[in-house]
Amino acid sequence: MNHSRTVINNTLPSIWHGADYNPDQWLHMPEIIDQDLVLMEQAHCSVFPLGIFSWSSYEPEEGVFHFEWLEKILDQLYAAGRYVQLATPSGARPRWLAQKYPEVLRVQENRVRNLYGLRHNHCYTSPVMREKVARINTALAQRFGKHPAVLSWHISNEIGGECFCPLCVDAFRTWLHDKYNGDLGALNKNYWSSFWAHTYTDWSQIEPFCSHGDDDVIHGLNIDWKRFVTHQTADFFKEECKPLREYSAGIPITTNLMGFHPEELEKRALANQCDFTSWDSYPQWHDSLATNELQWGQQVAFLADYTRSLSRNGHFIQMEATPSLTNWQGIAKHKRPGVHHLASLLSVAQGADGVLYFQWRAGRGGSEKFHGSVVYHDSSEENRIFQDVSDLGARLQALQAVVGSEVRAKVAIIIDTVARWGISGAQGFHKDHKNYVTICQEWHDVLWQRGISVDIRESDEDLSRYDLVIAPMLYALRPETEHNLKSFVAQGGTLLGTAITGYADENDLCYLGGFPGPLRDLYGIWIEELDTLHDHDANSLVPLTDNSMNLHRTYQLRTYCERIHAESAQVLAVYGSDYYQGEPVLTVNQYDQGHAYYLASIIDEQGKCDIIDAFIQNLSLPQALPQQQQGVVATCRYTIDAQYCFLMNFNDTPAMAQLDTTAYTCIESGDPIACTLNLNAYEVRICKKGL
Ligand code: GLA
Ligand code: ZN
Repeated sequence: MNHSRTVINNTLPSIWHGADYNPDQWLHMPEIIDQDLVLMEQAHCSVFPLGIFSWSSYEPEEGVFHFEWLEKILDQLYAAGRYVQLATPSGARPRWLAQKYPEVLRVQENRVRNLYGLRHNHCYTSPVMREKVARINTALAQRFGKHPAVLSWHISNEIGGECFCPLCVDAFRTWLHDKYNGDLGALNKNYWSSFWAHTYTDWSQIEPFCSHGDDDVIHGLNIDWKRFVTHQTADFFKEECKPLREYSAGIPITTNLMGFHPEELEKRALANQCDFTSWDSYPQWHDSLATNELQWGQQVAFLADYTRSLSRNGHFIQMEATPSLTNWQGIAKHKRPGVHHLASLLSVAQGADGVLYFQWRAGRGGSEKFHGSVVYHDSSEENRIFQDVSDLGARLQALQAVVGSEVRAKVAIIIDTVARWGISGAQGFHKDHKNYVTICQEWHDVLWQRGISVDIRESDEDLSRYDLVIAPMLYALRPETEHNLKSFVAQGGTLLGTAITGYADENDLCYLGGFPGPLRDLYGIWIEELDTLHDHDANSLVPLTDNSMNLHRTYQLRTYCERIHAESAQVLAVYGSDYYQGEPVLTVNQYDQGHAYYLASIIDEQGKCDIIDAFIQNLSLPQALPQQQQGVVATCRYTIDAQYCFLMNFNDTPAMAQLDTTAYTCIESGDPIACTLNLNAYEVRICKKGL
């Protein structure tokens, strides 16, 4: 991937900074909009997602369009040197649409149709909904698709959700009929439907899950339903984009994703249709007794890395975050001074070329009137939040050189959608510890704290550029997974798998002949049993003397302990207690040119750290900087001739940071930086080194 020094849109080759803007709420107070234009400049904000929930003002009655206000505000913004990410308004439909065509409203899993209400509540199958969206999108694209203020398109808002209406259920049956080539016998086989006499004898008997019928009996059906929801949502998305591609060619398209939420969507089905990706970042800062905010930094970094990995060209932005507080988390606590800069620059450190917020100005009414905003009800530029945002805007302007620089990851973590769907639907295991994404994130946390860049991949994506791939808890395998992992290792890669790998295929049918199924020869092990521990139980990992990972300590193991047999694998460590004391828990198998490690349990943080340190050593994995003191993290972005190193202090107290040479200059001041520097509480320093 060579995307050094390319940018999302050449019209604005800087780090985008701005916020969701809803001028349609203020049309009756034009003086507010005039004030906004002045404040936007003072806040160093130049990019505004606009029109996200504006459908009823564009089209107050069916077929009657009023774009005058939009035209005016786009002209005003452009004249003032501001830009927009113009939204398609499908995130919230107008009342008349639902009243006239009830089919556009979603039907819940209990088969009850929603009343008009909230937003994000439309059916993805309804031909009426599709037609009305196509019509308004076409009108917008024809009229504004080439407006010089339009930097990008913002498709809908936080897309997700399921609909169980008759149209959707019918489309599901058709989709299954196509998938199984009309062979109901093949479907019955994949669904193991003779269980509890569930055999289908007609396609019309197929019903997606519901709590007053089957919810988790036929797991293959539930996975197919999620595939269908992904397919239908992506198809709706494609239709949304069609008029934009036609009348607004060259203007890049994005949509604001939400990390791994919602579960039923495989995100790449949307991301692959985008020209760059974006996500909404809402960590709950200060929600613990810890004296550092590392926990939340880890989460932002993880979701940023995921959003970047979803991007076809590496370009992505943070589309939303609060400049101060939210109104929907348990407690509306402000970010402490310094944390807003830290949170925002962290997104940039992970590769984002934009830091945007929800919202520019707080409305007077509606459920988000007390959500944080750049401009509060006082409209004051003296306001602390406004000044904080403005200061950050000035800092971002100084980071021009960073725009388009890339993150270079030699490590990937596999977080596979089918494995996620499978483990979350499976019964058994530990019902509170089937949190696959969290289990994966724990490995990311350790790598990120060591300044190691990480991509996040599905199990069927190209892995050839990585030195190390970690595939925790890969419960279910896609048809391509086996070949993909094997060829990665065969060509010299290092793979680490962990407990609950290779139990089921892509239909959630268990493998016969011993787990980890088709990966048995890759890992060189046979998993005979899985023992699940209570939260008060633990086991331990005891390294063998002279093990090739140089592990010396004993580590705590929790929750899942597999009894494994080393077949071709070599044993590195054994269980310390219980009826499997002395049996293997950590193994390595030479597979052609590479190595496949298997850790048959969940190891404590120290264990993860020592395992990763062993890989750093053995594989010479590049780190941004040698490891920093607790709470200080360094990550890097690169251009062809420079390295930009972000040093971030997540502690609420000052901390020392350590550079590897004196060759760095401060990108903001241009001054040389000494090898040892003092960071204030929550401070970020961005240093440049020529390459
Ligand atoms: C989401 C939505 C926004 C707004 C914010 C509030 O991310 O996309 O419209 O509701 O939450 O935090
Ligand atoms: Zn529907």
